[in-house]
Amino acid sequence: MNTLKSITIRRPDDWHVHLRDGAMLDAVVGYTARQFGRAIVMPNLAPPVTTIAQASDYRRRIITAVGKGISFKPLMTCYLTDQADPAEISRGFQEGVFSAVKLYPAGATTNSASGVTNMAIVSGVLEVMQEIGMPLLVHGEVTDPDIDIFDREAVFIERVLAPMLTDFPALKVVFEHITTSQAVAFVRSQGPRLGATITAHHLLIDRNDMFRGGIRPHLYCLPVAKRQGHRLALLEAATSGEINFFLGTDSAPHSTTAKESACGCAGIFSAPTAMELYAHAFAQAGALEKLESFASLNGPDFYGLPVNEETITLVREDWNASSGISVDDDTEVLPFMAGETLEWKMVD
Ligand code: DOR
Ligand code: ZN
Repeated sequence: MNTLKSITIRRPDDWHVHLRDGAMLDAVVGYTARQFGRAIVMPNLAPPVTTIAQASDYRRRIITAVGKGISFKPLMTCYLTDQADPAEISRGFQEGVFSAVKLYPAGATTNSASGVTNMAIVSGVLEVMQEIGMPLLVHGEVTDPDIDIFDREAVFIERVLAPMLTDFPALKVVFEHITTSQAVAFVRSQGPRLGATITAHHLLIDRNDMFRGGIRPHLYCLPVAKRQGHRLALLEAATSGEINFFLGTDSAPHSTTAKESACGCAGIFSAPTAMELYAHAFAQAGALEKLESFASLNGPDFYGLPVNEETITLVREDWNASSGISVDDDTEVLPFMAGETLEWKMVD
C-alpha cells in the first residue's frame, strides 16, 4: 500500500471524452477543463462531426463554453462514415483541425448509426491516414447480434483489428476504452503503433456492480464492464507504466431520465472527479507513482505532442463527491460515484 499523503504530477490530458453540445456542453465542459490540459473530443453528435467546418465550429463552441482564463485545448476528431472523403480528412489533419479519426462500427453505441458498415469501404481513407501519420481511434466492438455482448471486444480483435493492423502496417491506432485481458495482451503484442485508453470506471467496477442490490443504470456503458479478472488486467496495464496505455475517461453524460429508463442509454459521466477516481484506483493498487506516466506522459508521446508544463496536486482526504448536476430546468446528470466517499481530492 502507498502511504503517500499527496502527489503532484504534470497536468494530465483526457484522450477520450464526450462533451456533447448546447446546454449539456455548457454544464459539463468546465469539469474536464478544470482537470485536464487537453482532451480528445468525440465527434458522435447528431449529426456527427464529419467535416472541417463542423469540427472548427464545434471547437469554437467548446472554447466559448469553457470561458476565459482557463487554459484548455480541445483536440477535435472526425467521425468516419462510409462516405468519408480522404481529401477532406487529410486536409483537416494538415490544417490542425482534426487530430484523429474516430471509427464507430455502425450500431455499436450512442449515435453510431452513421458509422462504418464494412471496413473495406474505408480502405482508401485508412491508406491516406497511414501515409500522413494520422491516428485512427477505434470503438472496438463487433455489432453482430449473435455475439454475446460480453464477447464483442475480444471478437473485434480477431475479426477486425488484427486484420486491419496487418493490412495497414504503419497506421497508428488507439484501441479506445479497453475492457478485457485479451485487449491488454493484444495491445502489448503490437508495439508502440497501437495505443489503448483505459477509463477510470473500468478500473473500478466489474459487471457485478451493475446489478448490486438491483439494476444500476448509471453503471451501464459500452463497452460494458466485464468480469473481475478483466478489471484486474486493466489495472495491471494502467499501472505498468508501459507507453501504450494512457488515460481516456470516456466521460459520457446522459440525462438521468435517459439513463433511468426502460431502455437506458450507455454512458458513465465521470468528468467531475476523473483524476480523483484514477488516483483512487492507482492508490488501491499501490502504484500512485505510476499515475503520471499513464495520465500525463504516455498520451502526448503517442500523439507526438509536448507534455503539459503545469502541474496538479492530489491530496489524500476523504470527501463526498458531488451529487446531481443541473443542465437546465428539466435536465440533471448524475456523476459516477455521486454521493460516495472518495479518498483523493484534486486541489488547485
Ligand atoms: O458508454 C458509452 N457512451 N460508450 C460509447 O461508446 C459512447 C458513449 C456516449 O456517447 O454516450
Ligand atoms: Zn466514448
